[in-house]
Amino acid sequence: MSPSAPLVLGIESSCDETGVGIVRGTELLVNAVASSMEEHVRFGGVIPEIASRAHLDAFVPTLESALKDAGVSLAEIDAIAVTSGPGLSGALMVGVSAAKALALATGKPLYAINHLVAHVGVGILDGGELPENLGALLVSGGHTEILQVNSLTSDVRLLGATIDDAAGEAYDKVARLLGLGYPGGPVIDRIAKEGDPKAIRFPRGLTLPKFIGTEEDPGKHRHDFSFSGLKTAVARCVEQYQKRGEEVPVADIAASFQEAVVDVITSKAVRACREHGLTNLLLGGGVAANSRLRELLAARCSSAGITLRVPPRSLCTDNGAMVAALGAQLVADNVLPSGLKFSTDSGQPVSLISLAV
Ligand code: KG4
Ligand code: ZN
Repeated sequence: MSPSAPLVLGIESSCDETGVGIVRGTELLVNAVASSMEEHVRFGGVIPEIASRAHLDAFVPTLESALKDAGVSLAEIDAIAVTSGPGLSGALMVGVSAAKALALATGKPLYAINHLVAHVGVGILDGGELPENLGALLVSGGHTEILQVNSLTSDVRLLGATIDDAAGEAYDKVARLLGLGYPGGPVIDRIAKEGDPKAIRFPRGLTLPKFIGTEEDPGKHRHDFSFSGLKTAVARCVEQYQKRGEEVPVADIAASFQEAVVDVITSKAVRACREHGLTNLLLGGGVAANSRLRELLAARCSSAGITLRVPPRSLCTDNGAMVAALGAQLVADNVLPSGLKFSTDSGQPVSLISLAV
């Protein structure tokens, strides 16, 4: 990487990870993350107020350790990038306030950027330039989307998204129903290996013809997801066993639930890619760690002639390096910074890659 490539500091605080990353162009220098997950365990899900307070406590130490590990000073940074949305309002506000304070104190340009597009931007740190005809499948505790990435810095479109729970949220809720604790994804992933994925046929949300439609006449929810019906079906199933006084077959339910989630996600992602001419797919979000998702997605992408890219786990979960990576691309493409007057936008659409002045 040339020394003239922009040195960018990225700040992420949209959920329960306080992330500070530093990149030089497409080179990752540091990816410091402090997570407040432990503080949410007893509630079985992220509590926004607790996450916001944890960001306040973690920000300065995380920033200091990132600068130290990268061996750079704030004065050397060319630009600062921060997630302005989508995410939890209070949590976003902590990162954005910190970023504005740093920008004001140092006089560095500040970019207010989209968290979802940053998940795609991380791809440049892992394999360099992004390919053409790129799609992205983002699956985490807070979001589930399929994106079409025509240009990382100027043209990203939403093809489909969940209309209720996010995929990771469904894992967390089902794990709670099964008494498996939080976060639910890793434990269900593990226990599912001991169960039969065909034991129970759970519903596949938004896969009926009335939602999908046809290629010529697509249904309203052709590329969208819904997981709340699946969660309810698991709850009813557990209740039936309990009512009969029978032991709940936890491994079979976990495996069958996981198969329903992964079947829908992979088939919808591949359909969206095929219909939009996307021959490359980048996977992101915490659920990207799921072994069955990786396996089935790899198989279905391969059959459809789609090249799948899965960044390492530390870059898939929420982090500051992805924010810095997208920031560096915006600087390189001469996109104007956002100034200091922007607000957080908990529903920031993917079309708003960075906020304009
Ligand atoms: O991206 P992430 O770290 O954080 C946010 O959502 O903000 O994703 C966390 C989510 C949780 O819902 C967790 O249960 C899920 O990712 N997850 C998994 C696995 N590992 C983490 N879901 C399924 N299988 C896994 N192996
Ligand atoms: Zn995320």
